[in-house]
Amino acid sequence: MFKIVIAGLDGCLGSAFIGLTDLMTLARRAIAATLPPSEAAGSRPDYQIVTASADGHPIRDGSGVRFEVETSFEEIAACDAVIVPSFAPTPEGKAPDMSSLGAAAAWLRRHHSRGALIGGCGSGVFLLGEAGLLEGRRCTTSWWHQEELKKRYPRADAAWGARLIDDRRVVTAAGPLSWIDVALHVLRSLCGPEAGRIAADFTLGESAPAKGGVRGAAYTANLISGGADAFLSDAERIVRQSDAAFNAQDLARALSTSERTLHRKLKLACGESPKTFIDRIRVETARTLLETSEKPVKELAASAGFIDEASFRRAFRRYAGMAPSAYRSWARAKSQDKAQMFSLRKDAEIIPDILTTILDTCVNGVTLADPDIEDAPIVYANKRFEEITGYGPQEIIGRNCRFLQGEDRDQESLRRLREAIKNVQPIEVTLRNYRKDGRLFNNKLNITPLFDGQGKLIYFLGVQYDVTDQVRAETEIGDLKAKLQAIA
Ligand SMILES: Cc1cc2nc3c(=O)[nH]c(=O)nc-3n(C[C@H](O)[C@H](O)[C@H](O)COP(=O)(O)O)c2cc1C
Repeated sequence: MFKIVIAGLDGCLGSAFIGLTDLMTLARRAIAATLPPSEAAGSRPDYQIVTASADGHPIRDGSGVRFEVETSFEEIAACDAVIVPSFAPTPEGKAPDMSSLGAAAAWLRRHHSRGALIGGCGSGVFLLGEAGLLEGRRCTTSWWHQEELKKRYPRADAAWGARLIDDRRVVTAAGPLSWIDVALHVLRSLCGPEAGRIAADFTLGESAPAKGGVRGAAYTANLISGGADAFLSDAERIVRQSDAAFNAQDLARALSTSERTLHRKLKLACGESPKTFIDRIRVETARTLLETSEKPVKELAASAGFIDEASFRRAFRRYAGMAPSAYRSWARAKSQDKAQMFSLRKDAEIIPDILTTILDTCVNGVTLADPDIEDAPIVYANKRFEEITGYGPQEIIGRNCRFLQGEDRDQESLRRLREAIKNVQPIEVTLRNYRKDGRLFNNKLNITPLFDGQGKLIYFLGVQYDVTDQVRAETEIGDLKAKLQAIA
């Protein structure tokens, strides 16, 4: 029997909180009535729905309506899924500040690390951000919260226009009513496709699509937030609706501003020139299309606003770090829950089969460490990792990755890294590492724990990115500033 928790939080949308409970209850009955008992014999998927709040006391939604809950977060020792409903927006139309919900965020993080699926609906996704669950994950939220989400959680890999995304047991969905999508996705993931279909047929009166598509032009931005965010959202919307001939000059005109002002405002808001901004938005559109459609690359390049396939491929590689087809395979594997790929069989031989073809095309180093082996050695490293470090496979496999630090062991980031690995948490740090020939390189290292279907930790995935040039440039800028200040 699966346990699904509906998180009760003050200020949430009452319709989402109560709607989730209603949908789950109705779907449970429909599944029990539709799946024949003989076929189901003892294995009919079943679940229990629990409502909980931080202290077990009733909650008040954004309009002040009181809702009872069954228990407190702490009373729930284990569960299979937690769903966070959307929140009522602030008077400015933003997602509420989540900093007071630290305990709820830590509780979510704990259940995720134990293998639970964590779902966030609309602005509820921000609480997942507060829990650190969006770091390095593909995610979505309501389009009018996009800029705010990127600002508050810069490491979240936010997809514009995606309706629902499941990235390694973190489910995010767009829109205040997305609790329906999240509930059905959770049921499908836990109870299987047949139960998911029955739940969708019964609650919606038809089969819901398995994956969200790209929301179209119906969602023309009607800006709620002000200032730089509003400018960025507007610029982003215009680029997304433009064709291949559209350039920086057109963008300035569409925004009723001069090219010079456009340049200055974009630099200020996101550090990009108009051309880079336009390219990046197009690549973002293409990424979402690669994830959510079957379109051939050529067609997709045109839909995303690229003049031809070759320029799309070049731009995509530059921003996403891999070829479009490799990205599509990788995204597909991820959306089917990467954990399942491994839970088939934890076997070193399976690693090359699954990973080599995909990961050898990456511009980043990729490694897998096995926590079940003494000192968690590297059991897989892609070609790029060999190129960055200068070591061959025989010198890498079977060793703990700390050999790259040489004698340089007193690094602040290392303490945070150790703590995160100990607590089985994702983390990103920049370390000083040394190539085989002794040369220093700055390694931006991103670590993600991978779990099997039962929530057991099976590997740590490491992504290494050589940021030596950036670090050098930043140091130079710092030095220069200091010198200029001294002169002034
Ligand atoms: C998958 C994975 C990849 C890692 N990659 C690197 C790396 O590229 N460079 C590095 O200095 N440390 C890397 N580490 C960290 C070290 O293996 C080790 O965890 C760290 O030095 C802290 O532990 P220690 O105190 O035992 O050295 C990686 C760890 C994991 C789990």
